Amino acid sequence: MMNEVIGLLQAHRSIRNFSQQPIEDGLLKTLIKSGQHAPSSSFLQAYSVIQIRDPIKRETLAAWCGDQEHIIKAPVFLVFCGDMYRLQHACEKHDVTMVQGMTEQLVIASVDAAIMAQNVLTAAESMGIGGVYVGAIRNNPQGVSELLKLPKHVFPIFGMSLGYPAEEPQCKPRLPLSMVLMEEEYSYDEQLLDEYDESFKKYVKERKSNAREESWSGTVARKLKNELRPHMKDYLNDKGFALK
Ligand SMILES: Cc1cc2nc3c(=O)[nH]c(=O)nc-3n(C[C@H](O)[C@H](O)[C@H](O)COP(=O)(O)O)c2cc1C
Repeated sequence: MMNEVIGLLQAHRSIRNFSQQPIEDGLLKTLIKSGQHAPSSSFLQAYSVIQIRDPIKRETLAAWCGDQEHIIKAPVFLVFCGDMYRLQHACEKHDVTMVQGMTEQLVIASVDAAIMAQNVLTAAESMGIGGVYVGAIRNNPQGVSELLKLPKHVFPIFGMSLGYPAEEPQCKPRLPLSMVLMEEEYSYDEQLLDEYDESFKKYVKERKSNAREESWSGTVARKLKNELRPHMKDYLNDKGFALK
């Protein structure tokens, strides 16, 4: 089964090298507006997007993100935030004190922002623009908060570099559908993982840039053998999230 939208979704690949061609402001606004039309839990719309144009800020962010050059060079760099700040004000309008620190609020804001951001990226891709998420923005969430003057109840979830592609990477092969789509109950087939590892290995070995010898499970093990951003808990607690 195929149509234009499905074709676009299945052709996604992250872009990290951009041409100099700018993204016109009106187009960027259309992309963000498309993001806003994403579904939202209880229609809280618990997100904000901050466009960063200042080159000094971009350099600082890039350095915190492990020197990801595209953050400096991309025509557009956005920071997507979970945002309960304006919701607190909405509650106050009705003399209600917003309950704070619920883990569920963290989930709601993160999911809302992620769904919204993916709409932005898909809209961008439909216009011939490419992009990449930057989770590394959470390497230094406190620094990002200060740099972008994020108030309490607002936290950076990821960045996104956008621009017209100056590279054409291949699509990464995904897990076999049968490993992801289950019937009636959870299932797991080790053999499928072995098969996927082989096909992923072949892709990584043969790809044009950053070719190497590694299976998918190898990349997973490399990533998950360490504690991931252990500062996040204290940071989020301080921002009023994830306490109970
Ligand atoms: C939330 C999130 C954070 C990500 N953070 C980074 C990042 O900091 N740097 C980067 O180069 N890619 C980042 N990526 C891109 C992933 O590496 C990429 O989507 C994945 O390898 C699949 O490749 P594809 O997007 O080309 O299909 C991120 C993706 C997501 C969804």
